[in-house]
Amino acid sequence: MLTTMSFGEKAKTMQKQEWGKTADGQPVYLYTLSNKKGMEAAITTYGGAVVSLKVADRKGEFADVVQGYKDVSGYETDKGYFGALIGRYGNRIAHGEFKLDGKTYNIPKNDGANSLHGGAKGFNKKLWTAKDVSGAAGQALELTYLSKDGEEGFPGNLSVKVVYTLTENNELKIDYAATTDKDTVLNLTNHSYFNLAGAGSGDILSHELMIPASRYTPVDSGLIPTGELAPVKGTPFDFTKLTVIGSRINDDNEQLKLGKGYDHNFVLDGAMGTMHKAAEVYEPKSGRLMDVTTLEPGVQFYTGNFLDGTVTGKDGKVYNHRYALCLETQHFPDSPNHPNFPTTELKPGHRYHTTTIYKFSVK
Ligand code: GLA
Repeated sequence: MLTTMSFGEKAKTMQKQEWGKTADGQPVYLYTLSNKKGMEAAITTYGGAVVSLKVADRKGEFADVVQGYKDVSGYETDKGYFGALIGRYGNRIAHGEFKLDGKTYNIPKNDGANSLHGGAKGFNKKLWTAKDVSGAAGQALELTYLSKDGEEGFPGNLSVKVVYTLTENNELKIDYAATTDKDTVLNLTNHSYFNLAGAGSGDILSHELMIPASRYTPVDSGLIPTGELAPVKGTPFDFTKLTVIGSRINDDNEQLKLGKGYDHNFVLDGAMGTMHKAAEVYEPKSGRLMDVTTLEPGVQFYTGNFLDGTVTGKDGKVYNHRYALCLETQHFPDSPNHPNFPTTELKPGHRYHTTTIYKFSVK
């Protein structure tokens, strides 16, 4: 790619490297996108996972702010969905069962009695086909995957395209598109684990968070929404103003106990279908700020409650309890079983399209 440079700027094209093989011998690649500000995003064709994301702090020093593994086998054995693309259905489907057009479909139950993040082998365990589609918006990587009719129990041949773009505004933009040849349900997201002080450097309890959501979806003991859209006002779920994450996480609150911390879907106040704010995260020591905007109606805020130090990531870092947070933009969990939630149905002739942007700056 030819780029025009102004004085002092370094041009670097997208880097592609061979990144070993899956256990069954298929080659995996790692692509590194960069911008002129020095920000870098490394993405693997295995699960379409963001492996590393290097972002400057207020002194201009870079740190990797996402959890990840050093090699493919880490991603093959991963149970935490680190950095991965999630599908066909991000979050939970109660009892792995839903009805569509009068027919019952069953998805493997991989989370107790329920199905989580696409079933036993979701998009996070698939090999994606990559293509450099860099252009005026920045370096961009297109990942495509064809999910066959019946895969993990879902109907329809589903053709999925995800484009990661790293812009000169220090945004990691994720565009998701899909078409189907049969009525189906779909809820795509990315499952990056952020720690703005640097992945593996400590817990995220002193990060500050804002989520513009006046309601959230309370859950039962299997983390399935009860169907209620409950007000956050007067509860530890009120993040409408920038609030220290750890300040209420141990409150005597039934929903916090059920989630073992925060593991809940927030109903965003912004209008679905136009880009609106999903969250703002601030880490006071480094000054790093992350702004999340989306077309989605919800965001799952998860405080790494299942991280327990048994996993060692890239650079030998151990990921202990609450060392990272996830902000998974999404339609609400278990929507196929909740007619009052925005629909996740996709029909032939229609094109699924959604966008989420993670923008980095300092304060
Ligand atoms: C989502 C879920 C959590 C957990 C993580 C992966 O955030 O809501 O309960 O399963 O994925 O560990």
